[in-house]
Amino acid sequence: MTPPTNRSLFERAQRVIPGGVNSPVRAFRSVGGTPYFVARAQGAHVWDVEGRRYVDYVQSYGASILGHAHPRVVEAVRRAAGEGTTFGAPTEREVLLAEELCRRVAGLEMVRLTSSGTEAAMSAVRVARGATGRPTVVKFAGGYHGHSDALLAAGGSGVADQGLSASAGVTPGAVADTVVAPYNRVPEIGDDVAVVMVEPVAANMGLVPPAPGFLQGLRQACDRTGALLCFDEVITGFRLGPGGASQRLGVRPDLWCFGKVIGGGLPLGAFGGRRDVMEQLAPLGPVYQAGTLSGNPLATAAGLAVLAELDDVAYTMLDGRATELGTMLAAVLADADLPAQVPRVGPLLLQLPPTLAADRPRLADTLDRFPASTRVAVEFRHPSWFDDDTLSLLAARNVALVLADRRSRPLGLVERTADWGYVRFHEGRARPWPCYGDQALGRWAERLAARWRPGDDVFAFFNNDPRGCAVRDACRFATLAQRQGLRPTRVPASGEVTIS
Ligand SMILES: Cc1ncc(COP(=O)(O)O)c(C=O)c1O
Repeated sequence: MTPPTNRSLFERAQRVIPGGVNSPVRAFRSVGGTPYFVARAQGAHVWDVEGRRYVDYVQSYGASILGHAHPRVVEAVRRAAGEGTTFGAPTEREVLLAEELCRRVAGLEMVRLTSSGTEAAMSAVRVARGATGRPTVVKFAGGYHGHSDALLAAGGSGVADQGLSASAGVTPGAVADTVVAPYNRVPEIGDDVAVVMVEPVAANMGLVPPAPGFLQGLRQACDRTGALLCFDEVITGFRLGPGGASQRLGVRPDLWCFGKVIGGGLPLGAFGGRRDVMEQLAPLGPVYQAGTLSGNPLATAAGLAVLAELDDVAYTMLDGRATELGTMLAAVLADADLPAQVPRVGPLLLQLPPTLAADRPRLADTLDRFPASTRVAVEFRHPSWFDDDTLSLLAARNVALVLADRRSRPLGLVERTADWGYVRFHEGRARPWPCYGDQALGRWAERLAARWRPGDDVFAFFNNDPRGCAVRDACRFATLAQRQGLRPTRVPASGEVTIS
């Protein structure tokens, strides 16, 4: 029998698993190509089923903080597995893990273990509502807190004002009590707010550190109104330091959500916080929350083994390595003349396409090169790319069209100031990284053609994206725009990101 290849497995997978994957980002839609199917992993490397070795910067999105198959973690899981894998009864390691989490995080008085970060965040919202007797959840545009209905509402004025859901299948009713605010601005907190849910360092829209005073401002606003403040530390927890983001940033919430690192690569989440709030949970209180596999023996064994390795020395090393890697990445990107950013907050590191804010001088410069009559399209991909200065710049240059996903609250601003307005790009769909298929681009070109005269010169600014999407999208756009009778005057050579 011929051994499977990535392609053959992906083809088979697509027949029986939607999109061929069990979590959408794994489908490679935003980067193109066939996903690699992992055969095994060790330390910093994974090997695919074709025997190809990769340096793995994914590390299960941070869940494998010690690298793959760390000997102590493997041994702990092996030993635990030999003793039985699930009992429907409490085990000692659940107590040990809960004690360890509470020991590390000041203010974390009680925790409940779950099987995922989604469950943790969803349950934190429920206990907050139960404890306060209030309905409203405030979250921030671009923040991700798992895929529960109330928290999927990802933002945008439509979502905030009209309670629209950001995913098909989520009813307006399910998000009617969810308010989405722009990240890094302290919103009005009404006395109907049960909980303000925030990633203390926003790590699901690129990597956006909290603005000075933002978290402190949230703390004060919650204190003023009696709302609870919840830090979703599924990413930052035990990654930013021994006590996570709350310790590193010096703001103490009422509730926390954890995941990833605490499971040592196995399915485990946790939510916890103030004793008086957590005591609202069944069996002590009226808020129901449960799970057959919650506090699973294998996951707690792995979590404890990982946390045992994560001392101050480990965090210093992590910080150092992230700094080194970030510096090297930035140098390589600069060398290749790719104006990408490499934002870093402690050991959290990301290599990103540039934000428009970071790229504003280049945008201004580019816009200057065109006569005022040129029609200009600007592509936004991400809510974090909007900032007031960039919007003012676009408005001043009379940018005619701004494309964005629907999560971007400041779209309203652009809408008012632009001569044409905007297209809601991902109507009815939420995607972690928007992926522009032919169909969507076709619609864009069609709408452009409808508004602009055939024969108009068009210029499209695509954000430079080191993953190659922008180049691909720019070429597609050029072709489609031409078909629609518009005139992109130059199709970019490979590596170029603008049509001009
Ligand atoms: C901040 C944050 N919260 C919650 C979740 C959901 O966790 P899970 O994927 O384990 O359900 C994630 C997942 O990436 C996350 O980044």
